Amino acid sequence: MRREILAANWKMNHTNASGVAMIKELAPLVKDAKAEVVVCAPYLMLTDLIEAARGTNIGIGAENIYFEDKGAFTGEVSAPMLKEIGVEYVIIGHSERRQYFNETDETVNKKVHKAFEYGFTPIVCVGESLEQRDYGVTNDLVRYQTKIALFGLDAEQVKKVVIAYEPVWAIGTGRTATSEQAEEVCKAIRDCIAELYGQAVADEVRVQYGGSMKPSNAEELLAQPNIDGGLIGGASLVADDFSKLIR
Ligand code: PGA
Repeated sequence: MRREILAANWKMNHTNASGVAMIKELAPLVKDAKAEVVVCAPYLMLTDLIEAARGTNIGIGAENIYFEDKGAFTGEVSAPMLKEIGVEYVIIGHSERRQYFNETDETVNKKVHKAFEYGFTPIVCVGESLEQRDYGVTNDLVRYQTKIALFGLDAEQVKKVVIAYEPVWAIGTGRTATSEQAEEVCKAIRDCIAELYGQAVADEVRVQYGGSMKPSNAEELLAQPNIDGGLIGGASLVADDFSKLIR
C-alpha cells in the first residue's frame, strides 16, 4: 500500500560536476525502479541536478530549509527560493543539523510547516544517540521528536510526511541497527502517529530507516513491515551502490 522511498543524502560531498555526472549515470540504472527515488544535495548544486534529472524518475531534494520566507538571515536559504528552481523534497532535522547547527525540535516543526506551505515533501529525521539507547529511552525520545515535528499539522499533511528513523550511532559508522531494532522503532513511530491521527492516517505515512544502509543489508531492513524505505548517506554517493540498493 505504501510506496517505498529511497532517498540519497549526499551531505557535503559531491561538487556540481561530480553530482551531475552521478545523476546521469544513475538515471538509466534506476529508470524501472518501483520505489520512489530521491537525491538530496547541497543548495549550490540543486539547479544543476534538477536540470540533469529532468525527464527521469529521480526527484531532487534539499538537505535543509529555513523557516522564514525572507529577511535578514545571512547564509540561509528560503522555501520560495527552493520552490522557484523546482525542488520537490526537503530533509528536515537531520541529526547532524541537530548536533552541529543548533536545530531543535521546535525549529524542525517550524520548517515542516514551511515545507507544506510551499508543497515540498518533508523527510523528517528522528533518532537516538547511543547513550539514549543505553538508558532505554529510544522509543520515548523518537515519540517526543515525532510529536513535536508534526505539531499543528492536519491529517492530510501528516499522510504526506516521510519520517526517517536514523539512530545517531549508526550514521556513517558502518554500524547498522539490526532489522529487529529498526522495525521496533519504526513501529513505535507509526503507533505514535496512530494515537495522534488514527490508524488510517498512520498506515499511509512512510517511515524510512537510515544509518549505514547499503546494498548488503537493505533487503532485510526493507522487508520489515514498518520500514518503507531508506535515507542513505555513504552508499548513495556512487551510482553503482545506490542503484544496487534501489534494485
Ligand atoms: P549513512 O548516513 O548512510 O552514511 O550512515 C545516513 C544519513 O545520515 O542520512
